[in-house]
Amino acid sequence: MKNDKQFKINLDEIIRTLSSVAMTLRENPKKALKSLRKIGKNIDRQIPYRDGHILRVTEYSLAIAEELGFSEEEKVVLEVAALLHDFGKIGIDESILLKPRKLSEAEKEEVDMHVMRGYYMLAGFNELIEALGGIKHHHEHFNGSGYPEGLKKGEIPIIARIIAVADAYDAMTSKRPYRRAMSKEEAIRELKANAGTQFDPAIVKIFIKIITKKEKKLISN
Ligand SMILES: [Fe+2]
Ligand SMILES: [Fe+2]
Repeated sequence: MKNDKQFKINLDEIIRTLSSVAMTLRENPKKALKSLRKIGKNIDRQIPYRDGHILRVTEYSLAIAEELGFSEEEKVVLEVAALLHDFGKIGIDESILLKPRKLSEAEKEEVDMHVMRGYYMLAGFNELIEALGGIKHHHEHFNGSGYPEGLKKGEIPIIARIIAVADAYDAMTSKRPYRRAMSKEEAIRELKANAGTQFDPAIVKIFIKIITKKEKKLISN
């Protein structure tokens, strides 16, 4: 494991980029999303075992949106939310994020705070308001047992329900410091087993269809 100094980020630079993203998002979403992708990569780089996570979650989420018939504007909102879904992990103690074992309850609570941290860190940008629902609620559970608000079913913004499935699949199929990566088949079984409790069953169904058909095309880093 590399020295923790490597994971320091330049928050001023990120805020400057976010300000210009917010300003250009409406008239030039392509340009804004390109800058946001850079921020996403930057966040991922802070945590080596997550490399590429944010971009994969974004690709999976957009593929689901495509199947759901999202408009171009709706896709932009989803993409912003997916790219920033773990923004609140910036600043969380690296020793927790890199811990080679399962987290204690207190450590888990700190990591769980990333949804509210992300929400508050980004809430100052009016132009990102629609995407905030995806950032704040991507760890809600379909049956109401998730966090931060225990929302259930349709109360959970659709973009958050999409990101939740994409995020969980990528987390399961990626190696973590305390466990091996699951195979695609195991992860699909896990998604199915938790459809209706943790995940929106309709979205799980769509995602499994996508992932079994065109996974090769989806993955790009
Ligand atoms: Fe998260
Ligand atoms: Fe994530």
